[in-house]
Amino acid sequence: MQGVQLLLSAFVILALATSFVSATDPGSLQDFCVAANDTKSALFVNGKFCKDPKLASANDFFFTGLDKPGNTTNRVGSNVTTVNVNQIPGLNTLGISLVRIDYAPYGLNAPHTHPRATEILVVAEGTLHVGFVTSNPENRLITKVLNKGDVFVFPVGLIHFQFNPKHDNAVAFAGLSSQNPGVITIANAVFGSDPRISPDVLTKAFQVDKNVIDYLEKQFWDDNN
Ligand SMILES: *[C@@H]1O[C@H](CO)[C@@H](O)[C@H](O)[C@H]1NC(C)=O
Ligand SMILES: *[C@@H]1O[C@H](CO)[C@@H](O)[C@H](O)[C@H]1NC(C)=O
Ligand SMILES: *[C@@H]1O[C@H](CO)[C@@H](O)[C@H](O)[C@H]1NC(C)=O
Repeated sequence: MQGVQLLLSAFVILALATSFVSATDPGSLQDFCVAANDTKSALFVNGKFCKDPKLASANDFFFTGLDKPGNTTNRVGSNVTTVNVNQIPGLNTLGISLVRIDYAPYGLNAPHTHPRATEILVVAEGTLHVGFVTSNPENRLITKVLNKGDVFVFPVGLIHFQFNPKHDNAVAFAGLSSQNPGVITIANAVFGSDPRISPDVLTKAFQVDKNVIDYLEKQFWDDNN
């Protein structure tokens, strides 16, 4: 009896493992595939446009300047410096990237999601109140206050945020499981889309009057959207 149960649990674990373990970006078929701009020095591998590996050099895998803070003088008081395939062409096909996030006192990295990546964040300076919300129907908020040296994970696709609750600057670095994680900032996508989403849609979705929607849209359309 115990043997059957053991076998069953082994099957369940195996089934779970095979359904959950799949990389966000396709696995590489070669050591690397440095993203190339021009056809002259390029090869196609697995449908991608790659630099001829013989022409690849250290600089294709290099970025400098992540010691410098981003400018947080903006309405939310935060700034994300991205180091993805657009900054390091050698990240092409490798399924990984990095960001530095700076927070002014009381600065916010507003609720957003990465459609293609899980994020693992480490606080390098200061304190952050972070959280993410699980999918429907629970929509459970999972939240924590992090201090220097603390690490937190934001699972792929889930809406998450980081807020600096202190009167000092904060700095975090985060690894993301895609060469191009993508970012959807919820408020910008909903109230700052181009063209605008019909007020008929937004008044019903948010159960508010049109003047509230107009007000919210104005926060984004006043800028450069
Ligand atoms: C983030 O900081 C960089 C470097 O200081 C700056 O060029 C950029 O405009 C800033 N972005 C925002 C959204 O403030
Ligand atoms: C930061 O951005 C603000 C607003 O755009 C600008 O006035 C200020 O000069 C910038 N600071 C630095 C150090 O670049
Ligand atoms: C592609 O070309 C643009 C414009 O010439 C250049 O700024 C960029 O650095 C190039 N990117 C790569 C990956 O070589």
